[in-house]
Amino acid sequence: MDTIEKPLGSMTANRPARLPETATARGKVAPAKLAHIVLRTSMERVKPLADWYCKVLEAEATIDTDQFVAVTYDQEHHRIAILGIPGSQPHVDGLWGLHHIAFTYAGLGDLLKTWRRLKGMGIEPGLCINHGPTTSMYFFDPDKNQIELQCDNVPESQFATYFETDEFTSNPIGVKFDPADLERRLAAGEPETKLLKRPAGAPPPISEFPVN
Ligand SMILES: [Fe+2]
Repeated sequence: MDTIEKPLGSMTANRPARLPETATARGKVAPAKLAHIVLRTSMERVKPLADWYCKVLEAEATIDTDQFVAVTYDQEHHRIAILGIPGSQPHVDGLWGLHHIAFTYAGLGDLLKTWRRLKGMGIEPGLCINHGPTTSMYFFDPDKNQIELQCDNVPESQFATYFETDEFTSNPIGVKFDPADLERRLAAGEPETKLLKRPAGAPPPISEFPVN
């Protein structure tokens, strides 16, 4: 594999992040939504992988065959689907393509409840980081696809302003957090808005980012 020229931990922005107007607001015809993601695996891994997504996302199958299982947790007929293709090969780290898929919870309470529920099933994140705009936990599915569970730290209307803050421009990666600590403090009555604020600190070293 080629050497990574610019490790993630030292990422700097070429220009400030920004939140553009929606395509619709700019008069364009654009997709109405992001519909679903289909993951390829080997035939015998279709069921276990679909089960993992049902567990993690509290999803249920809408289409369930030996070769293709579609699951959803909302009104969409499938959000994640698993497609078995004979001869498909196991994950190899560092290939071009998908890095991770992120799911947003309604708030920190739901994110931490999910973290606690998954921990009880032996499913634990490899990295927990408050990016600034989001509080995020990164997991691997049994095929080593990376899944981010997150909640927004900033109301949508304030993202544009947040991206301009020194806090974000000086460290667009974020600062690690301990979910157990946030859970304890939330239970003790600290407001979500306070707990979602990014703590002071430096980004974790590149060696702490899960590799896939
Ligand atoms: Fe992400």
